[in-house]
Amino acid sequence: MAASSSCRSVRDNVISAREKILSNTVLSRQHMTPEIALHLITPDCAIYHQPVGAGDIGAHTGFSADPFWGFFWPGGQALTRRVSRRVFILDTGHVFHGKSVLDVGCGCGASAIAALMVGARHVTANDIDPVALQATLLNAELNGITSNRLAVSDDNFISNGADSETTNTYEVVLIGDLFYDTEIAADLHPWIQRLARAGTEIFVGDPGRHGITDTGVLRNMKLRSPVQTTCKCLPGK
Ligand SMILES: C[S@@+](CC[C@H](N)C(=O)[O-])C[C@H]1O[C@@H](n2cnc3c(N)ncnc32)[C@H](O)[C@@H]1O
Repeated sequence: MAASSSCRSVRDNVISAREKILSNTVLSRQHMTPEIALHLITPDCAIYHQPVGAGDIGAHTGFSADPFWGFFWPGGQALTRRVSRRVFILDTGHVFHGKSVLDVGCGCGASAIAALMVGARHVTANDIDPVALQATLLNAELNGITSNRLAVSDDNFISNGADSETTNTYEVVLIGDLFYDTEIAADLHPWIQRLARAGTEIFVGDPGRHGITDTGVLRNMKLRSPVQTTCKCLPGK
């Protein structure tokens, strides 16, 4: 009895999150990877004009956390563009085909979807916001991905202390626009280094945020593919 009511409550939360995502977003291909359709928050959505990061954001938006999943961030766009450039991938026999991939801080899930589109064997889309995982699943369905090659996880891989499990499971890690402040960079940077030392290939897309420019992180990275972004993410930014 207890188990079934708890299942019902999980299912009801999922349905309610999906309904809220759909009613607060529009379908968009206005980004650097128009081959991927996404449910996004754009200036046409009322929620776009709500204050962001203003304390009790849930009171304004109906979501318990800022709806970062509703935007396709410039770092993620650059990363996804690179991931989904089939010509480049075919030319170089690229790393995603047949690989097991982890997209950390997946937001709307575009990078995870791109990795599946170019033949990754399995992708886990990860975000600490469970609504982002529902947005990712909705976006995957929208792009015809219904296979069991996509999993979602709300684990905090960066601080869960299970690095060897992560490196044993994933050959490639994608990180799009996650260095947005120095605090997260302080955790992310050593984690990336530990994974890289264990042989994991890590791709970071970032538009030059403080967490990446002010912390020395770049010393340990190689600039593979400069991308000119044209996107506007948030009102006033
Ligand atoms: C700026 S958004 C980027 C989303 C997406 N990668 C993109 O580029 O469009 C950052 C995302 O990371 C998630 N996030 C923050 N800290 C995280 C952590 N420790 N582990 C996983 N996700 C995290 C946030 O919930 C948010 O969805």
